[in-house]
Amino acid sequence: MSTIIALLAIVITLIIYLLRYQQSYWQRRGVPHDPPSFPLGALKEWRRTKSFSEIMAPIYTKFKGTGPFCGIYFLLEPAVFVLDLELVKKVLIKDFQNFQDRGVFHNEIEDPLTGNLFQLDGPKWNVLRKKLSPTFTSGKMKLMFPAVVKVAQELIQVMGEKSKNAANHILEITELQARYTADVIGSCAFGLECNSLRNPDAEFVRMGRKALIERRHSILVDTFMESYPRLARKLNLVSLTKEVQDFYTGIVRKTVEYREQNQVKRNDFMNILLEMKNKEGEKDGLSVEEIAAQAYIFFLAGFETSSTTMGFALYELARNQDVQNRLRQEINTTLAQHNNECTYEAIQQMKYLEQVLSETLRKYPVLPWVERVAKADYDTGDPHYLIEKNSRVLILSYGIHHDPEYYPDPEKFDPERFTEEEIKKRPACTWIPFGDGPRNCIGLRFGKMQALIGLALLIKHFRFSFAPQTPAVLTYNKENVLLSAEHGIHLKVEQIEE
Ligand code: HEM
Repeated sequence: MSTIIALLAIVITLIIYLLRYQQSYWQRRGVPHDPPSFPLGALKEWRRTKSFSEIMAPIYTKFKGTGPFCGIYFLLEPAVFVLDLELVKKVLIKDFQNFQDRGVFHNEIEDPLTGNLFQLDGPKWNVLRKKLSPTFTSGKMKLMFPAVVKVAQELIQVMGEKSKNAANHILEITELQARYTADVIGSCAFGLECNSLRNPDAEFVRMGRKALIERRHSILVDTFMESYPRLARKLNLVSLTKEVQDFYTGIVRKTVEYREQNQVKRNDFMNILLEMKNKEGEKDGLSVEEIAAQAYIFFLAGFETSSTTMGFALYELARNQDVQNRLRQEINTTLAQHNNECTYEAIQQMKYLEQVLSETLRKYPVLPWVERVAKADYDTGDPHYLIEKNSRVLILSYGIHHDPEYYPDPEKFDPERFTEEEIKKRPACTWIPFGDGPRNCIGLRFGKMQALIGLALLIKHFRFSFAPQTPAVLTYNKENVLLSAEHGIHLKVEQIEE
C-alpha cells in the first residue's frame, strides 16, 4: 500500500514539475509576459470575476509596443499573443500556409459532430472548406432571403404581442433575438420549422444551448482537452454529450431520408449539403455524418453570434436616439422605394444600417479573438521573436477594436467610423469580427443578412429606449466565451403606429 502511495506521489510531483516547466516557457525565451498562475494561466479569473475579453484586453494594452507579440499562458499552454498589426496580417493572410490550423479539439471518429469545418484542421479542413464555400455565395444568400424575411415577420408579431402585454412595455430582448436566429438557422440549415419564437421550450434551442455549455467530462478534463487537443484525440476522448450527439445526428438522418424519399428540394443549406452527398463516390462527396457535423456547426456558429450582435445593436440604438432616428428614416425611405417590401435589393441599399452593424461588431465582437497554430517555426523578422512550431497564436479582435490608435474614443458608438472614406483611412485587419484570410467566418454573408433583415424590420416597427433598469455601461457574462450581456438587455419597446 505504502509503495502505491509513494509511486502516486512521485507521479503527481512529476506532473506538477512538467506543468511548471511548461509555464516557465516565456521566461526561458525572454519574451515579455505576465507571470503565470497555476494551472489556468492568464485565465485564472475567468468564470469567477471577469469575462474572457476583460482579462485579455488589459494584457493587449499593457504589452502593445514591446514587440510583435507577448507571451501568455492560455489555460495550461504557452501561447503567442499578437500585438502588432503587421503580424496579424501575416498570420491571417500573407503567410496563411503556415497558420492554416485552428488547433481546437476534434475527434471525428468517436465524436462525429466535431468533424465540422470550425474544428477540423489540416488537409481535411482544406478539402471541406473548398466543398462548402459554394454554399455561402451571394447567389445562394439571395435564394434564402425570403425564408429569413418570413421568420423576421414572425419576430415582429411576437415582439408586438410581448411589448403590449409587458409592464411599461419593458422587455428582455436578447432571448427573443436568440429565438429568431434559431428559427432562421433551423429552417435554413436543417429545413425545420422549429418555431421557437412561439414555443420557447423548442427542443432545438434547448439542445443548442446544451451543446454550447454542457460537456461529456468535468471542467478539468475539458481544460485538458482544449490545452492538448492532439493528445486528447489520441486518448480517444469525446467532448459532446451523447444526448446532443444523438439529437443532431437523428434530425439530420430523418431529414435526409425524408427529402430523398419524397424528392423534396428547398432553398436551404441542407439542400446544398444533400447535393454534395449525392456526389458520394466522387472526390467531393459528403457522408451523412459529415452532413450532420456541418449542419450542427452552422446552427451553433450562426445562432448565438448573430442574435447577441442584434441585442448589442438595439442596446446602442436605444442609448443613441439620434442614430436610431436616422436609421429609421433610411429604412422607411428605402422600403418606400421598394413597394414597402423587404427585398434583397432594399437591404443592400441601406448603407447606414450596414454602418450601424459594422460599428456594433467593432465595439462588441461576439467571438472576441481569433486563433491559429503554427505549422512550422516562423520567423517574424526579429530573431528574438521566433514563433516555434506548434505554438498557439491568439489575435484579440476585441483589443484591436478598442485600440484608440485605430478607433479614437473607442467606447463611443459612432457608425460614422464605417463610411467608405473612413474605412479606407484605416490599415487592413483593424476590423476582424469575422476573422480574416482564407479561414475567416464562412457564414459572414448569412450572419450579416439575418442581422440586417431583423434589425431593419425591428427599427421600422418599434422604438427602443432605456428602461429604468438598463445599465449605462454593459457588463459581460463571465462564463460565456462569446461576448454577451451579463443580465440580458432590458429595453422599453414601443410599437410605432403605421
Ligand atoms: C454575426 C455573426 C457571426 C460572427 C460575428 C461570426 C464570427 C466568426 C469568427 C470570428 C470566426 C473565426 C474566423 C477566423 O478564425 O478567422 C468564425 C468562423 C466560422 N463561422 Fe462564423 N460568425 C457569425 C455567423 C456565422 C454563421 C451564420 C455561420 C453559419 C451559417 C457561421 C459559421 C462559421 C464557421 C463554419 C466557421 C469556421 C470556418 C472555418 O474554420 O473554415 N458563422 N465565425
